[in-house]
Amino acid sequence: MAKQNAVVTGYGFYAPPRVVTNHDLEKMVDTSDEWISSRTGIKERHFAGDGETTSTMAVRAAKAALERAHMRAQDLDLVIVGTCSPDYLFPATACLVQSALGAERAGAFDVEAACTSFVSALALANGMILGGMARNALVIGAETLSRLLDFKDRTTCVLFGDGAGAVVLEASNASVGIESAVLHADGSKGELLYVQAGATKMPASKETVEQGLHFIRMQGGEVFKLAVKSMCDAAEEALAEAGVTTEDIDILIPHQANVRIIDAVARRLHFPPEKVFVNIQRYGNTSAASIPIAIAEAADQGRLKKGDRVLLVAFGGGFTWGASVMEWWGVPIPDRREKSIVDRAARTVDDLLDRVRLPS
Ligand code: ACO
Repeated sequence: MAKQNAVVTGYGFYAPPRVVTNHDLEKMVDTSDEWISSRTGIKERHFAGDGETTSTMAVRAAKAALERAHMRAQDLDLVIVGTCSPDYLFPATACLVQSALGAERAGAFDVEAACTSFVSALALANGMILGGMARNALVIGAETLSRLLDFKDRTTCVLFGDGAGAVVLEASNASVGIESAVLHADGSKGELLYVQAGATKMPASKETVEQGLHFIRMQGGEVFKLAVKSMCDAAEEALAEAGVTTEDIDILIPHQANVRIIDAVARRLHFPPEKVFVNIQRYGNTSAASIPIAIAEAADQGRLKKGDRVLLVAFGGGFTWGASVMEWWGVPIPDRREKSIVDRAARTVDDLLDRVRLPS
């Protein structure tokens, strides 16, 4: 059997309708639109509404990705959700998504590497497809960080937002798809960015709630310095592993934590601004969701086209960081909707491609 690659065949995202602007935050905490915009690049973010959770937003993004891939949930082998704001400690948010979608054949689990969760989940899914354990995977990044924010702490509450993004990854014989994936961590610095209470080391109690220990705390300056260096290192490693250079990359899609971090990374890697995708001004830092939301928006805007080579790079709590190079496919398998040509036994995208032509 020819070597299999893993290619993205569908993508989707969901941002909850409630938009909170910097001016809205000025009424809640001692801050200003000027401070937030100039220090972070953020102008507004979306917050989940009543009844919305990480899993409900993940399902919406997943459905969009499945529809674009023309894939039925019943045909999924894996559902992986990257998140640090799950609905529950357990069951995994991925299980809630699996059930909601009716992905009855799929294994499901969460990946938690804070803002690096999506890149980690993608690397894992890629490895499982390359290893032959799965033919396809639904990989989601989803967060409801607004519910972990202390609206008395202006140093964190202005930074984060909610949302979800998803991709469908499928085995392919074509020489496109994920070309490299690198992951790293340094657990010794975990307390620079963490949620202290609410799990098992410090279970939730009246005291932890009164002290706000169930909220995100971050030493932003320290995180900033480490983020720039780590993202550059990971990006260079992923480029080298793929055997390409910055010039070969059509678009850089970085984790959207702070536009100054993005600018510093792009400068050091010699990416001109027009090759860097930035949407933090409208979403804030959505942690695991930021890269898949950016992928979906870049593709919808025609900034990410079939055949383009993309570099993803992330950094987050843990600390964790990673990067991935892929040749973008992003198009659905045509006419999967037409039952007549859907072969239920088809094992890969290519089995279907033998019968149909891809749209250009
Ligand atoms: N409004 C107004 N003033 C503020 C605010 C605010 N919202 N927040 C802080 N300030 C004040 C501070 O109190 C300080 O005042 P002082 O000089 O009188 O003491 C001043 O602004 C400067 O504060 P800094 O923290 O030094 O500001 P900085 O320029 O470092 O920006 C920021 C802070 C935006 C948090 C930045 O450090 C950053 O982006 N860090 C990295 C975040 C990141 O990448 N996180 C990783 C991913 S997140 C995840 O994994 C879940």
